[in-house]
Amino acid sequence: MEKLIDLESVKLILKERLKPKRYLHSIGVSNTSVRLAKLYGVCEKKAEIAGILHDYARNLSHDELSQYINEFKIATDEVIDTQVDLAHGLIGAELVKNKFNIEDEDILNAIRYHTTGRKHMSKLEKIIYLADYIEPNRKAAEVEKIRSIALYDLNKAVLMALDNCIKYVIKKGLLLHNNSILARNSLILERISVKT
Ligand SMILES: [Fe+2]
Ligand SMILES: [Fe+2]
Repeated sequence: MEKLIDLESVKLILKERLKPKRYLHSIGVSNTSVRLAKLYGVCEKKAEIAGILHDYARNLSHDELSQYINEFKIATDEVIDTQVDLAHGLIGAELVKNKFNIEDEDILNAIRYHTTGRKHMSKLEKIIYLADYIEPNRKAAEVEKIRSIALYDLNKAVLMALDNCIKYVIKKGLLLHNNSILARNSLILERISVKT
């Protein structure tokens, strides 16, 4: 259980930091994450904190993101070096760790990997990834269908959201991060092992 973190003051800081639309999105992700946490037996407080803070670094410019990559000695690769926006999760986790004294690695990892996903995501990581896709302000592909599947099959809903993100990346001609491929394979293998 994460120790005393005053969510009201976190919200005030976020409201200053993020554009109004991004702030509302963060509130939406937090509320959706709490609902999913309740459904899938995850600590609701952790989901609320990770949800509200997942886009903490989303307001940073490319230059600022690059500076933080150096400052925090974040390991990058050619995909992140080329599409530095992808680092907002990795950097956001470091920033909130220092700013709000968040030590819970599950919360930090949920923030870190919400952009790409990764192999063997924890339930909290999956919840934040999914909530980012289906929160009420989102109008993404198949979002209604995924919202309803999210109510009874977490892995299937995360896989569908991930597949749609991968399709988007391909359609846009962008680089696909290895972690997204690993996340996808890992989810499919988990689903196979549950069925057998
Ligand atoms: Fe994000
Ligand atoms: Fe987001």
